[in-house]
Amino acid sequence: MQKKFVKIHESIQLFKQSLQSVYPDSEIESLVPLMAEYVFRSSYFKITLNKEKTITQDEYNRLNYLMDELKSGKPIQYIMGYTYFLDLKLKVNEHVLIPRPETEELVMEFIKQHKDNQEPLEILDIGTGSGCIALAIKKNLPRAYVHAIDVSASALAVAKENAAINQLDIEFTVDNIMNPGEYLLDRTYDCIISNPPYIPDAEKSFMKPQVIDYEPHIALFVPDDSQFLFYKKIARLGKLILINGGSVLLELNEFHYMEICDIFLELGYNHINYLKDMQQKPRILTAQYGC
Ligand SMILES: C[S@@+](CC[C@H](N)C(=O)[O-])C[C@H]1O[C@@H](n2cnc3c(N)ncnc32)[C@H](O)[C@@H]1O
Repeated sequence: MQKKFVKIHESIQLFKQSLQSVYPDSEIESLVPLMAEYVFRSSYFKITLNKEKTITQDEYNRLNYLMDELKSGKPIQYIMGYTYFLDLKLKVNEHVLIPRPETEELVMEFIKQHKDNQEPLEILDIGTGSGCIALAIKKNLPRAYVHAIDVSASALAVAKENAAINQLDIEFTVDNIMNPGEYLLDRTYDCIISNPPYIPDAEKSFMKPQVIDYEPHIALFVPDDSQFLFYKKIARLGKLILINGGSVLLELNEFHYMEICDIFLELGYNHINYLKDMQQKPRILTAQYGC
């Protein structure tokens, strides 16, 4: 498509109007800075200082491509091919979940708990996806040894790329937490951290098409009749591989946080706590095994 003489501020209006039938206003506003980055290869702040400038043909083409893709429902992170997670820029594609702000809170809590401690720290990240949790921990706690596993080899390939891009040293293994390799049972860890799949299949019909149509279902859903599958497995595994006094930090299904706490209680964990996220939803489980 040939561009007319579109100015920067007009292109922003065009972008907002074109998405009005698909996204709520608040979401459109949150997309604008990312649009600036994608279309103009610049920050929103910088482009607004030059808003009378006419956009180039390449910028116009990128704008149209972005609007078409967004209207089809594709998440902007997959269109751009990357996202931000705390202080990291991470590659993402359809094989990995787009990291969520709640998970940033999980990692911040972990860092807060361990930043003043100089003891060795061996961590297992279960279901690493893009590697966001493992990488953010390694970046902020360089003394930690981080081992990250995922059942999806395609997800792990993305996580490895992210480790290389960010120059962080992580051990990655393809492994299925439901039937872990023998090697895992021979090792010990100080902490297990995980954002496991926890949405029951029945909730699919209530979820946004942007999630259902584009994000990997293996990262999100669990069977309706065993929705605590991952929590139970992690609790049992923790008893085998955590050191005495080792801890677990998990992202919680906010609707069932008490049942999940009970799983850990019944299996002999102590200091079981749940923490609320910024939306005041119970989101993080912490528990200790042994004393
Ligand atoms: C909710 S996503 C979390 C991804 C990433 N840690 C994050 O927080 O954005 C859950 C991850 O668990 C992985 N997963 C699913 N089933 C698994 C299994 N049986 N064993 C190991 N990983 C599994 C998925 O491939 C996915 O990457």
